[in-house]
Amino acid sequence: MSTESPCQNPEIRPAGSRSHTAGSRSHTAGSRSHTALETGSPADARSFRCVLVTGGAGFIGCNLVRWILEHRPQTLVINLDALTYAGNPANIADIRDHERHRFVHGDICDEKLVGSLLDEGVDAVINAAAHSHVDRSLMRGDEFVATNVGGVQVILDAIKARPQIRFVQVSTDEIYGSLPPDERCDENWPPAPGNPYAATKAAAELLALSYRNSFGLDVVISRCCNNFGPYHYPEKMIPLFITNLLDGLRVPLYGDGLNYREWIHVEDHCSALVAILESGRSGEAYNISSGTGLTNLELTRRILDLLGKDDSSVEYVKDRPGHDRRYALDSRKIAAELGWQPRHNLKDGLRATCEWFQANEQWWRPIKSGAYRKYYQQQYAERLKSAAI
Ligand code: NAD
Ligand code: TYD
Repeated sequence: MSTESPCQNPEIRPAGSRSHTAGSRSHTAGSRSHTALETGSPADARSFRCVLVTGGAGFIGCNLVRWILEHRPQTLVINLDALTYAGNPANIADIRDHERHRFVHGDICDEKLVGSLLDEGVDAVINAAAHSHVDRSLMRGDEFVATNVGGVQVILDAIKARPQIRFVQVSTDEIYGSLPPDERCDENWPPAPGNPYAATKAAAELLALSYRNSFGLDVVISRCCNNFGPYHYPEKMIPLFITNLLDGLRVPLYGDGLNYREWIHVEDHCSALVAILESGRSGEAYNISSGTGLTNLELTRRILDLLGKDDSSVEYVKDRPGHDRRYALDSRKIAAELGWQPRHNLKDGLRATCEWFQANEQWWRPIKSGAYRKYYQQQYAERLKSAAI
């Protein structure tokens, strides 16, 4: 860890700094690069000198930090992450020493630490730190409430004392709960979270908006559909299924496999978050979606196909309790107001993601051992009685 904040060190010259790519881990999936113009940001987009990204050693966070370093050469990033089971120093190994990036190992619930980091010249916070897995929230909810709600309150209180700082709360389509068939929800759809994880995310949004109402904080909210891409922790469906199949194991499909989700490449989520940061209207929420939705069974078959497997690798297992049937976003607002569009399609993005996991066994094999095995046994041993786990 560098000892000096990039935000304070005058020796660090953001504009001329060289860009760091992920080397063998780079994951372009045939996408075009995002310049300020290409994100479609309106002309009056704000620019930020120093952004505190929380959860930046997790899946979305590490991709977001990388995205900002690559596409916003004026911006310095402080990356605060508690390195829970889902946070991984390997996710940021290639940018660890980047001159515009400073990693801080710490907790968003630590009031003193958060306050002191904000005093290092931070002018925006993007909060991607969270406990993020629905199945774990069904096992126990305490950490979800502590980080996803309590941690947000700590950040908001710290910003209350420094109200010039913009706050982006990274939220989720799950706050809407399950939608009726054929419906799509816009941002005015009432929240109806269907699991403890989603409930904590909805609570965090309400808390953030209450600080705006009560104290005038500059708060914006993003609600994205399911992400996929590199560094995705292999407890979630896509990386779990890919890595199981690479190991010759079966994949545990919940219920009848007909639950419906929309999927977006993580780089598109990152570009949307930056568009919201720079141009989103204070107090507003923005849905983020690729518009590409399919059932879990259809998605599973695409992964099977890409990895040369067939339906015999699928094990239908006992469903997740309270499993939301359908998420589907109307994301016309972010397109109309901020000019944002996704750049990846599911077909190419999924192929590239399979290739990334094939090429990066050294990343996921250590994860799928140790404490992960214990979780996997707890979550799947009963469900997968008839299959090798
Ligand atoms: P993740 O579980 O991969 O990463 C979460 C990161 O937060 C980890 O690095 C972890 O160490 C860190 N963290 C957890 N508690 C912390 C704390 N108290 N202090 C500091 N750091 C802490 O999750 P993800 O999939 O990258 O999700 C990131 C955010 O995006 C979450 O807020 C999630 O709700 C939201 N989101 C995720 C998806 C998705 O499909 N993954 C979709 C929409 C929204
Ligand atoms: P997941 O990746 O956990 O994301 P979320 O619950 O946030 O949507 O799950 C995506 C879908 O895949 C969801 O409908 C649950 C299903 N699923 C399975 O069928 N089997 C599994 O082992 C997992 C983890 C998920």
